[in-house]
Amino acid sequence: MNDMKEKILVTGGTGYIGSHTVVELQNAGYEVVIIDNLSNSSRKVLDGIKNITGIMPAFVEGDCTDLKTLSTLFENHKGIKGIINFAASKAVGESVEKPLLYYRNNLVTLINLLELMPQYDVKGIVFSSSCTVYGEPDVNPIDETAPIKVATSPYGNTKQICEEIITDFIASGANIKSILLRYFNPIGAHPSAEIGELPNGIPNNLVPYITQTAAGIRKELTVFGNDYNTPDGTCIRDFIDVVDLARAHVVAMKRMLDNSDSDALEVFNLGTGNGLSVLQLIEAFEKASGVKVPYRIGERRAGDIEQIWANPKKANEILGWKAVVPIEETMSNAWKWQCRCAGN
Ligand code: UD1
Repeated sequence: MNDMKEKILVTGGTGYIGSHTVVELQNAGYEVVIIDNLSNSSRKVLDGIKNITGIMPAFVEGDCTDLKTLSTLFENHKGIKGIINFAASKAVGESVEKPLLYYRNNLVTLINLLELMPQYDVKGIVFSSSCTVYGEPDVNPIDETAPIKVATSPYGNTKQICEEIITDFIASGANIKSILLRYFNPIGAHPSAEIGELPNGIPNNLVPYITQTAAGIRKELTVFGNDYNTPDGTCIRDFIDVVDLARAHVVAMKRMLDNSDSDALEVFNLGTGNGLSVLQLIEAFEKASGVKVPYRIGERRAGDIEQIWANPKKANEILGWKAVVPIEETMSNAWKWQCRCAGN
């Protein structure tokens, strides 16, 4: 045991999942350097992180698609041992309209990081992947051995291609390790309400839409379809608390850096193992917040998957990690965060 803090670079560290992960890394004793271009987040997030952990992380405002910016960062912050790569664009619809933006941002960022890792002796990289790589599953719950399906959007394709880039780089003999984390549906906020999801404009994702509707910012929620082949007709997802998700990154990083026996490349599903329908989630929100959410049933949304939930056994057993936050608590934290945002 030495008390030298290991240094971790978190790209996209002021974003939604990134900021929660920075908190957990700092709480676990890691020293964090964030790089973020603030394209979908704000500098204020840094204060939130400091208020929770008592530590202001080092921050570089910059774009990971610029190799020079990254090499300067590694020169100025010597001794970075691991990277968690959150810096990416993630809106499915936008990716259909602006595919090159998505390919450039998501792919070039990863390639730059991988290229610099051996040069600066960085041992491991955690990559934010998505259950979107499985497409519409043949069976649920879905484990990591399930086939990868043809991507239905440029966004989804960038996740698949990035997984392949890392796989090929490691197969070529590069002396690095990587863990691919396939997230299901991250929701909620830090219980302190210091950090949370900050969607730009009209939210695409379900939970910010629910909380904004409850807060009166949106008139009503549209439930996209109730004629699916599910018990209540609405889609089913595996909603995972963002703090649970963040904790998994810390465990994954520790495994790459401290466990010399672990494979160079590993992949884990991060979900709860429970599927909840859209209507069940609305109900959980209403129960947790005591606020009714006005909604109507609308058309199906193009490209939606009917039902998908995780088999998280591999992460449970090998990482020793498990999602533990009950759904009511997650929804209550999402609501607290919404109320705090509105008050800002
Ligand atoms: C989407 C992406 C996923 C991405 C994730 C994070 C698809 C197919 N998947 O997940 O790859 O990683 O966002 O950005 O797009 N819903 C409503 N009304 C709303 C909003 C959503 O009924 O106003 C429903 C959707 O139809 C869906 C469920 O809620 O059934 C979840 O939607 P959302 O939060 O957007 O996540 P995904 O589509 O699962």
